[in-house]
Amino acid sequence: MKMNEYPTIENSCRIIHLPKIHDPRGNLTFIQGQEHIPFTIQRAYWIYDVPGGEIRGGHAYKSLHELLIVVSGSLDVVLDDGIQVKNYSLNRSYFGLYIPNLIWRSMENFSTNALCLILASDIYDARDYLRDYTEFLNHVDRSK
Ligand code: TYD
Repeated sequence: MKMNEYPTIENSCRIIHLPKIHDPRGNLTFIQGQEHIPFTIQRAYWIYDVPGGEIRGGHAYKSLHELLIVVSGSLDVVLDDGIQVKNYSLNRSYFGLYIPNLIWRSMENFSTNALCLILASDIYDARDYLRDYTEFLNHVDRSK
């Protein structure tokens, strides 16, 4: 397969601005159906109570797509497509970071009480994970 058949950060990852309903009683943001994100949500999970200095993620998926929302607090998401590495600092509850399959990602620099909600395109499947970075590079045909 050719290199350009695989997703790259530049052509596939992006910040999605979610609706924000301003209200003096408190703001509200929502996601519905496939209006805001390019996949059907099959699963939601969230990461919280992360001790200072810990790193989560550190893998890619063969086929899963995700939207990552830092609902509260802040953290950095480091994306790597095998060629380019890009850091996204997230600290707004109305921004979602869309990450398709075959992008290596890790989450770090969690603030105290950071809450990260992840919407996923499929149910959990351990076989969909690429946990070894060299295996990931081979998978996307970008071994160096
Ligand atoms: P994992 O995705 O490996 O997190 P990280 O890459 O940050 O270490 O998930 C950690 C554990 O939680 C792993 O044993 C699998 C389990 N898990 C589920 O059972 N269901 C899920 O939806 C997710 C995301 C993880």
